[in-house]
Amino acid sequence: MAKLLIIYHSQSGNTEKMAKAVNEGAVAAKATVSLKKAAEATSDDLLGCDAVIFGSPNYFNYMAGMIKDFFDRAFFAVVDKVNDKPYALFGSHGTGGEQALESLDKYCERIQLKKATPNVGSLREPSPEVLEKCKELGRKMAQL
Ligand SMILES: Cc1cc2nc3c(=O)[nH]c(=O)nc-3n(C[C@H](O)[C@H](O)[C@H](O)COP(=O)(O)O)c2cc1C
Repeated sequence: MAKLLIIYHSQSGNTEKMAKAVNEGAVAAKATVSLKKAAEATSDDLLGCDAVIFGSPNYFNYMAGMIKDFFDRAFFAVVDKVNDKPYALFGSHGTGGEQALESLDKYCERIQLKKATPNVGSLREPSPEVLEKCKELGRKMAQL
């Protein structure tokens, strides 16, 4: 059974709705899932999972500060220890687009996580179609 970790931040709830849908899809595919707000996530969570999924809103054309804070705290404990672990990204944005996920890719590449599947983005509140894509993302990561 795959052990999945979902780390997300959300201020007004849009990315959180996506995180819950990713969780739902992964649980339906029989994964064991740890769903964590970034402020509560630790390096041990990342070391202990089979695959990780990050969710971040676009704040100032970048990942949310709390997600960056997670990378800052976890870096020395995880670098060279998570090589090739699969990861995926999702998140909500305004009219600016998906720069938060692009910035997240750089950090994931830096610690040598391996991208497993395309990003799922949402313009503000996720539509039913976007939530379905989030569930599919969770299912896919559970089946790697
Ligand atoms: C502080 C702040 C900065 C933001 N900056 C951007 C931005 O640069 N580009 C963009 O497309 N949306 C921006 N937004 C809009 C959010 O990405 C959008 O409202 C998103 O749905 C918020 O997700 P959340 O509910 O998970 O926090 C910003 C919102 C906030 C609160």
